[in-house]
Amino acid sequence: MPGLADLPELLEDLRSHGLLRDAWADQDAEGLVDFTLNDTLGFRRPRSGTVSRETSRGWEQERPGAGASRLLGGTHESHLQVERLLTEWLEAESALLFSSGYAANVGALGALLGPDDLVLSDALNHASLIDGIRLSRARTIIFPHLDLSAAARMYKASISEGHPPSTRIRRATWLVLESYYSMDGDSPDLKKARELCDELGWNLYVDEAHAFGLFGPEGRGLSAAAGVRPDVLMLGFGKAAGGAGGAVLGVRALREWLWNRARSFVFSTAPSPVGTWALLDTLRRTRTADRERARSVALSSFFREALEREGVSLGTGTHGPIVSVVLGEEKKALEAASRLKNQGFRVLPVRPPTVPKGTSRLRITVSAAHEEVDLERLAEEIGAIVREW
Ligand SMILES: Cc1ncc(COP(=O)(O)O)c(C=O)c1O
Repeated sequence: MPGLADLPELLEDLRSHGLLRDAWADQDAEGLVDFTLNDTLGFRRPRSGTVSRETSRGWEQERPGAGASRLLGGTHESHLQVERLLTEWLEAESALLFSSGYAANVGALGALLGPDDLVLSDALNHASLIDGIRLSRARTIIFPHLDLSAAARMYKASISEGHPPSTRIRRATWLVLESYYSMDGDSPDLKKARELCDELGWNLYVDEAHAFGLFGPEGRGLSAAAGVRPDVLMLGFGKAAGGAGGAVLGVRALREWLWNRARSFVFSTAPSPVGTWALLDTLRRTRTADRERARSVALSSFFREALEREGVSLGTGTHGPIVSVVLGEEKKALEAASRLKNQGFRVLPVRPPTVPKGTSRLRITVSAAHEEVDLERLAEEIGAIVREW
């Protein structure tokens, strides 16, 4: 690792390769149509994104800080109400709230897997899943993105190399997936994933961070839409629900295990009670937001069709509001974003390490708060850039 004295030179190196990240603040979006936010139901936007007066009045009495970790007196009524709501809504035996989706994944995977276990992990899994797996020191097989047949082949080859099948506690095999990939807007075949898990004795861990609130009945996510029950279900509240935090759901013993063993939960102050009441409010609203869900999905299809008419290739992403236009080099993505800004659009370039090298891109998130005219115009501008190159 570099010493502190080396940092200016290393930062310059990142800048010269188009890899330095700028801090885009909210006010930088002023006057621009914003396609960077993950709140696909439009809850965070002005007008619709504020907390209702009635509920907020109670929060004036509430403390900003929980005071301690959940285990040591920091559990508040708001935490329990969120967990109760999720348990009932998702038809799970238990739910445990974390301060972020990142903390949920790192905590849960770190607590559930150990060095004797085997993990099959999709090549494009989110950093929080990767970090949780690394923390667990489980043996890891990374299979090509969405290719579950390859996962099964690689697993069978690994058994013949001496890793025993998962028959005993402490020798579990986990399949770890996202239901809706945040950089590509594509999804695995969750039914097939469940079947493979049942056939081969694996456990299924599904991260629904980007799907929760947006897809499925009452926004329950893509597993619910497919009629699939993962062994562990992770939800994120910072995306469609327009809140903050994450949760891990499953059988009753799962919650108790994580309560005792998930390090990001045990060794961290509990989520802010004020924030958690606000979360409860936005979760209730998310549950009933069928109109916004339908609008977000319809506008996404409209935008994809407009891009296709412009001759823009959309890769593997076929559904939903995350639309990626892969441009390749970092500098191309930077230049395209800057040209779009001049045209009145806020679209950020996504570069390594968020996406693999050579796949820098524009990532557009369509929300229920967008308008067709803006989507049409954005598609035309992107089409012009892509054709020019
Ligand atoms: C798939 C996935 N999982 C987990 C997370 C982490 O969620 P949070 O932003 O709440 O920490 C993200 C967010 O970037 C994500 O895209």
